Amino acid sequence: MLEQDIKKVLVSEEQIHEKAVELGKILQNDYKNTTPLILGILRGSVPFMAELIKHIDGELEIDFMTVSSYHGGTKSSGEVKLIMDVDTAINGRDILIVEDIIDTGRTLKYLKELLEHRGARVKIVTLLDKPEGRVVEIEPDYTGFTIPNEFVVGFGLDYDEHYRNLPYVGVLKEEVYKK
Ligand code: XMP
Ligand code: MG
Repeated sequence: MLEQDIKKVLVSEEQIHEKAVELGKILQNDYKNTTPLILGILRGSVPFMAELIKHIDGELEIDFMTVSSYHGGTKSSGEVKLIMDVDTAINGRDILIVEDIIDTGRTLKYLKELLEHRGARVKIVTLLDKPEGRVVEIEPDYTGFTIPNEFVVGFGLDYDEHYRNLPYVGVLKEEVYKK
């Protein structure tokens, strides 16, 4: 079972649910005069995005993008690559990027600049923020939980594509990395 590899739970399923309700209400109000494009960054944002949009009672559209900055393991490569673009026309639109986590900030800085360059108004919501990991200047507009600089998995976050389906966010046991 996946749970055997987890050292401790950082954010529980219930905490995530409560936070999604809280953020959903705020977003519903902030976007009440527009139809935002809720843009999930694949693949990590999928569980959070699904949870969040249930609690926004208003007009919205969804789309997805894939970028890569990680090539397996637990360290960022530093380079961001666009793998799959949006299908939606975005000039003049309000876009809310949904991310699983902000660490160095490189992924979101790249994406925000790319979308703004195409004429969108861009805001960011992230489930998790690791401010200690930041190497470029970028801040989310909405944050679920601020966490310490530890490698986490679950609720969309993976270690070599595993653990994304855990219903909570947890820290992996060291022996799992060394296997
Ligand atoms: P940057 O460094 O560009 O990172 O802000 C954003 C992406 O890095 C991945 N990331 C993690 N993935 N556990 C993970 O499973 C972590 O602790 C972690 N920290 C960063 C993640 O894919 C995110 O989109
Ligand atoms: Mg990611």
